[in-house]
Amino acid sequence: MEWKWYLWFIRMAVMLLVLERCSWCTTDACLEHERIALLHLKPFFNYGNQLQSWVEVKGSDCCKWERVECNTTTRRLIQLSLNSTIWLYNMEYDMDNRNLNAWYLNASMFLPFEELKRLYLSGNAMGGNLENEGFQLLSRLNNLETLDLSWNSLKNSILFHMRNLSSLKTLRLRRNQLKGRLDHIQGLNNLTNLKYLDLSDNNIESISNQGLSNLTNLKKLDLRWNQIESFQSFKDLSDNELKDLVIHQGII
Ligand SMILES: *[C@@H]1O[C@H](CO)[C@@H](O)[C@H](O)[C@H]1NC(C)=O
Ligand SMILES: *[C@@H]1O[C@H](CO)[C@@H](O)[C@H](O)[C@H]1NC(C)=O
Ligand SMILES: *[C@@H]1O[C@H](CO)[C@@H](O)[C@H](O)[C@H]1NC(C)=O
Ligand SMILES: *[C@@H]1O[C@H](CO)[C@@H](O)[C@H](O)[C@H]1NC(C)=O
Ligand SMILES: *[C@@H]1O[C@H](CO)[C@@H](O)[C@H](O)[C@H]1NC(C)=O
Ligand SMILES: *[C@@H]1O[C@H](CO)[C@@H](O)[C@H](O)[C@H]1NC(C)=O
Repeated sequence: MEWKWYLWFIRMAVMLLVLERCSWCTTDACLEHERIALLHLKPFFNYGNQLQSWVEVKGSDCCKWERVECNTTTRRLIQLSLNSTIWLYNMEYDMDNRNLNAWYLNASMFLPFEELKRLYLSGNAMGGNLENEGFQLLSRLNNLETLDLSWNSLKNSILFHMRNLSSLKTLRLRRNQLKGRLDHIQGLNNLTNLKYLDLSDNNIESISNQGLSNLTNLKKLDLRWNQIESFQSFKDLSDNELKDLVIHQGII
């Protein structure tokens, strides 16, 4: 009798072990190479120790990690919310309002997430990207529809790096260091699927008509809190789909 109980106990223990294991190793978990890619990103976006669920445990389901969202069928990442990981007022600025804490992103680190649709990178004190590892590489993510780069320290050159991201529908560059006359923003003009473009809270003085003439699907262009001198250059945009052109606080 005692033996029977003993065997029963061992059987249960083994079964539990198997079950527990399977919660780590079933097809429900995220893809291993996406999990590893997230761990490579972690040190760059973990200032306030927000990414505690991103653990280096083999088989851990990264779809359950905070700030990550997966497609429930394919178990691949579709959204990554690495926004507001650094808060900008901790930053030091020099006389030219350059952010002394700015750092440079390696955009290649996002390439494993082939099904990514939404990437939020606002509030990270990024000054730009590493040479040869620029944002234009994100054009390989064919499903990428939303890119939020607001509240960083990005300069005009960022617009050039946007030129191949033709799947984008929403691009947010609010509160960066864009400035002056953006007469040659051919980069943006290539984003023919763009519906929403947020350039507010920069120091833009003007944008040439040609610079946005290709954006026939644009529904909303936000230019509040800039130094726009004249509305002339936006006259022809009304021939587009554009419904909302927001300059200053009002809508014209
Ligand atoms: C998830 O992936 C499947 C297969 O590719 C696709 O049909 C579905 O629309 C996706 N769902 C979401 C929410 O992206
Ligand atoms: C990050 O952005 C997403 C999408 O806009 C938002 O829902 C979320 O609250 C943001 N997280 C933080 C910490 O700001
Ligand atoms: C950028 O990231 C990729 C992928 O992780 C890596 O192979 C490459 O060496 C990195 N480049 C630099 C300059 O750090
Ligand atoms: C951008 O597109 C052009 C033309 O299709 C191509 O030659 C170039 O390699 C692309 N750049 C990147 C970084 O994908
Ligand atoms: C408009 O977009 C197309 C690609 O879709 C590009 O070939 C062309 O150069 C763009 N026009 C301008 C003025 O940038
Ligand atoms: C605009 O995009 C098209 C294809 O998506 C590409 O052939 C062209 O080189 C791009 N233009 C610029 C200025 O990068």
